[in-house]
Formats: sequence, structure tokens, C-alpha cells
Amino acid sequence: MQLSGRHAVVTGGGSGVGAAIARALADAGAEVTIVGRRARPLAEVAAGHPRLHAMAADVTDAGAVADMLAGAAAERGAPVILVANAGAAESKPFHRMTPADLETSLAVNLTGTFNLWHAGLPRLRRAGWGRMIAVASLAGLKGYPYVSAYVAAKHAVVGLTRALALEVAKEGITVNALCPGFVDTPMLERSVDTITEKTGRSRDEALAALVAGNPQGRLIAPGEVAGAALWLCSEAAAPVNGQAIAISGGE
Ligand SMILES: NC(=O)c1ccc[n+]([C@@H]2O[C@H](COP(=O)([O-])OP(=O)(O)OC[C@H]3O[C@@H](n4cnc5c(N)ncnc54)[C@H](OP(=O)(O)O)[C@@H]3O)[C@@H](O)[C@H]2O)c1
Repeated sequence: MQLSGRHAVVTGGGSGVGAAIARALADAGAEVTIVGRRARPLAEVAAGHPRLHAMAADVTDAGAVADMLAGAAAERGAPVILVANAGAAESKPFHRMTPADLETSLAVNLTGTFNLWHAGLPRLRRAGWGRMIAVASLAGLKGYPYVSAYVAAKHAVVGLTRALALEVAKEGITVNALCPGFVDTPMLERSVDTITEKTGRSRDEALAALVAGNPQGRLIAPGEVAGAALWLCSEAAAPVNGQAIAISGGE
């Protein structure tokens, strides 16, 4: 597939799933702006490919996201592929969760997606072509214990995806969510650390508990999520709109 001449923005592109998606799009010929709060991981990922470009911004700040998009557009043309991948999960039993925990989870996972798509949509409309992709989660389609704020936020991302998809359906733009099960990334490592700390289980036992939910008995690789994102950017996927696509080995 050829994405040359297209400019993509991938939030959370400095690590894990976002870095894999950014590399896949750049390998397919797109210019890719990767976004996160920390400059260093972004610079390290960008150094690995001539078509990857780092820009620091916090996705929870609507003004910062709009400024980032304007700056990226000035340098590389209008971004027409918007991948809202930045996210975070904190685990805690519901009774210990505070309103601030809920706010924090909604801010990065839901508002971060809203901010990117809201500021970015006018350029897609002017181009008459666009791809909006959320990296939601299987937690956007089913519940998991001890991550209720994250599950609520990811369900909301799936709802936002389904609604916006209908609003832009006749404009050459598609809006879809990818819903991976447990993916082998730094976020997963942090989940394993939390389980070992809180339950006294070994690292292998904690990992086995997470993997057990996947009928294939394994973690998803970041590159497997990237493959789905790349396909959504293809012309073959033009009729795929408003979908929440599980990437979960059948979980
Ligand atoms: N790993 C899994 O098992 C799994 C499963 C399903 C879905 N997901 C989803 O996949 C996405 C990527 O996660 P990952 O596993 O690749 O985790 P990760 O390695 O921790 O990556 C998360 C990225 O988001 C960025 N980020 C976090 N808060 C941000 C903010 N306020 N503004 C801008 N960037 C921000 C981080 O960069 P900075 O810290 O530098 O800002 C980081 O690059 C997330 O949406 C996650 O919910 C992950």
C-alpha cells in the first residue's frame, strides 16, 4: 500500500503501539508526526526513520493539540490520518477510586481522542479524504475488574467513534476504533508490576493471568495492531466505518 503524499499524526507515538503504528505508516510512505509529552522517547523513535517527526504536546490540552496540528501542517501539509493512540490505565478497586482518578482517565483516553479529532477534522474535510483511528481497547467492548475508569473511558471512545463515523460518512472520511487485548508494551509491563506488587505473585504468574484471557494464549504484538491501522488507511478499507475492531485472539 502506498501512503506517500499523506501526512499522519499519531499520538503516543513515542512508545509501544503508537511507535509501531507510526513506523508502519512511515514505511508505507506517509510523513508521520508523532506526539507525546516527553521529548526524549519521541526523538528516539523519530531518529529511526526519515519520515518520522517528533512534536511534544499533551493531548488533554485542546489548545496544545490545535497548535501541534497547525505546526505539523505548516511543515508537512495537512494531516489527513489522525491516530488517537495516547492512553493510560491505572488499576484500583472501584471503592478506592476517586473522582480525580475518573477525571484523569477520561482526560487522556477520551478527551485526548476528542481533542485530536475535533481540531483535525476541518483539514480532512477540506481534503475530501481522511482516516480517523482510535486505539481504544478490548476494554472498550467488555469489562475488566480493577480498571473501571479505564473501561468507562474506552467504552466512551468507542461511542465517540460510532457517532462521528455517521457524521462524516459521505465525506470520504472513515472513523474506526481498534480494540486490542493485552499488547506487549511498556503499559503492559506496568500492569504486570502492579499485579506483582499487590498480589505477591511472581512476574511469570502475573503475565500468565493476563495471557489466560486470550484464547490464543499469548500477548498481541504492537506490530499486529499496526497492521490493522495500516489496512484501515488503505482504499480497500474505505467502506469500513464506525467499527470497533477486536484484535484479541478471539477474546
Ligand atoms: N498495552 C496494552 O495491553 C493495551 C491494550 C489495549 C489497548 N491499549 C491502548 O493502546 C494505546 C497505547 O498504549 P501502549 O500499550 O502502547 O502504552 P504506552 O507504551 O504506555 O504508550 C502510551 C503513550 O501515550 C502517551 N501519552 C500518555 N499520556 C499522554 C498525554 N496526556 N498526552 C500525550 N501523550 C500521552 C505516552 O507518552 P508520554 O508519556 O511521553 O506522554 C506514551 O507514548 C493506549 O491508548 C492504550 O490504552 C493498550
